[in-house]
Order: sequence, then C-alpha cells, then structure tokens
Amino acid sequence: MIIAIDGLTAAGKGTLAKRLAASLGFHHLDTGLIYRAVGAKLLAGGADPADAARAEAAARALEPADLRREGLRSEAASRAASIVAAIPGVRAALVEFQRRFARQAPGAVLDGRDIGTVICPDATVKLFVTASPEIRARRRFDELQARGESATYPAVFRDLQERDARDQARGTAPAKPAEDAIVLDTSALTADQVFDRALEIVRSRR
Ligand code: DC
Repeated sequence: MIIAIDGLTAAGKGTLAKRLAASLGFHHLDTGLIYRAVGAKLLAGGADPADAARAEAAARALEPADLRREGLRSEAASRAASIVAAIPGVRAALVEFQRRFARQAPGAVLDGRDIGTVICPDATVKLFVTASPEIRARRRFDELQARGESATYPAVFRDLQERDARDQARGTAPAKPAEDAIVLDTSALTADQVFDRALEIVRSRR
C-alpha cells in the first residue's frame, strides 16, 4: 500500500506523514529531504544551486546516508532545495530512488509535492494538504523560533510566497493535487484532527 501526501511548504504534511507511517507500521520518506540534500551538497562544495549540470550530478550521486546529514532543515538548505527542485534533470535522476522506496512491504508513506502526480500515480491513497499562506507562515515562524533561529514573520511570509510560486509554477512536476487526490485543508484543524481524518480515509481504502 502506498500513501502519497503532497502539499505546499508548512501545510502540515510532514507531521501527518510521520504519524500515519508510525501508526500503520509503514516506511516513511520525506522527499523534501532529497532535494534539500542535493541543494546542501552544492552549497557545501561552493557551487551555485542553479548550476544544472552540477545539480544533476549531485542528484545522481545521492545516497541514503546523505538524507541523514546535519543542516538539511536550515533555511539555506531549504532555499537551495527549491532551486534544484526546478531543474528537470535533477527530478529525473531522483525518480527511481523514490519509487524503490515506495515499493517496500508492508507499505510506505511518501510526502512531497509530486508524489500523487508523478512518482506514484497508482498510490492507494492520495492526499493534498493545504492551509492558508498566513497560517503556514505562522507555523513556519513558530517552528524557527522554537529552534532558536532568528526570523521575522514578514520575512518568513515573503519567503514562503516566493517558494510557493517556484514550486507551483515550474514546468516539471509542479506542486498541485492529483485529479484523484483528496484535498485536506488544515487551516482550522489541530494536528490530531488532521491525523484522525487522514486515518479514516486510509482505513476506508484498505
Ligand atoms: O517539503 P520541503 O520544504 O522539505 O521541500 C524542500 C523543497 O523541495 C521545496 O522547495 C519543494 C521541493 N520538493 C519538490 O519539488 N518535490 C518534492 N517531492 C519534495 C520537495
């Protein structure tokens, strides 16, 4: 069984995917980490994340251990990720890695932007998690503050809008709901409510 959870930055998909996987005993892949790892590799080597040839080479050389590196959650890695994620060669190089992960027994939960549309179009359950930009920016801001990183709400909001635009407007695999995805708006829901709703949907499909 494959569960695809897509959505924009800070919509709550990561938290949901992790909880669903834990409660079902499934494997979980945060596919954003893959793009972050590629972006971080380029930054560490002093390269420009927009350098398509180098980004593609870094994507081809990606190993599971790269996803456990430190610093992948930083704003710098996040920004670099959204740039490399728009390069078609990078995305193509990462498809098989994700599909292999998805095929593991007894099941897998993958969260990202294009899981239901491109990576696993045959997923058993497809969810597209959304929330208003203001609420997502507030969540991201609170998260950064809790980690002790310096940030202001207006800067986080601006950054989120830029990232949304890049994720939704790119020609290859833009972030959008699959035609058969269930859209879950989490703006007015707690994490527990989102989880309960998603679990209900999964159970109805099992
Ligand atoms: O979910 P995240 O913030 O960790 O994602 C980091 C970047 O990678 C973000 O700009 C979107 C991109 N991404 C993508 O294009 N496709 C995915 N399946 C996952 C993430």
